[in-house]
Amino acid sequence: MEKSFIMVKPDGVQRNLIGEIVQRFEKKGFTLVAGKLITISPELAEQHYGEHKGKAFFENLVSFITSGPVFAMIWEGEDVIKTARKMMGSTNPAEAEPGTIRGDYGVRVSMNVIHGSDSGESAEREIKLFFNNDDIVDYKKTV
Ligand code: CMP
Repeated sequence: MEKSFIMVKPDGVQRNLIGEIVQRFEKKGFTLVAGKLITISPELAEQHYGEHKGKAFFENLVSFITSGPVFAMIWEGEDVIKTARKMMGSTNPAEAEPGTIRGDYGVRVSMNVIHGSDSGESAEREIKLFFNNDDIVDYKKTV
């Protein structure tokens, strides 16, 4: 089953949006298979956002994502990567549709509440960066 790495960013944690965001994914029918509250080190931030190294906003991005705890999760389900991106809305909250997470709660592009993997390769890479295999719970819903 497909997995995606989803993270509530420091602004989302501080604005008490963890529960709201988890609920949206639960209600959509996806399955939470791993989750932890952590403060990201600068090293991990640079690895996670490696593709943006050299861009004008890179230093700000690293300093923001390491500024306070994040809630890192793995969600599982059919087409979860693409569907989660739709549920999150455009990267820039000003362009995100109402009803999406960023459209409803995002403030600006650098403070956009949530991160989600953009492809299968990114999901695999990001999950490995943040979680060990034994952090991931393998279970089937029975109710
Ligand atoms: P995210 O999906 O976590 O991936 C890269 C992040 O860079 C993005 O969300 C934005 O929060 C952040 N970012 C900061 N400034 C910019 C910018 N000018 N353009 C695009 N992304 C930016």
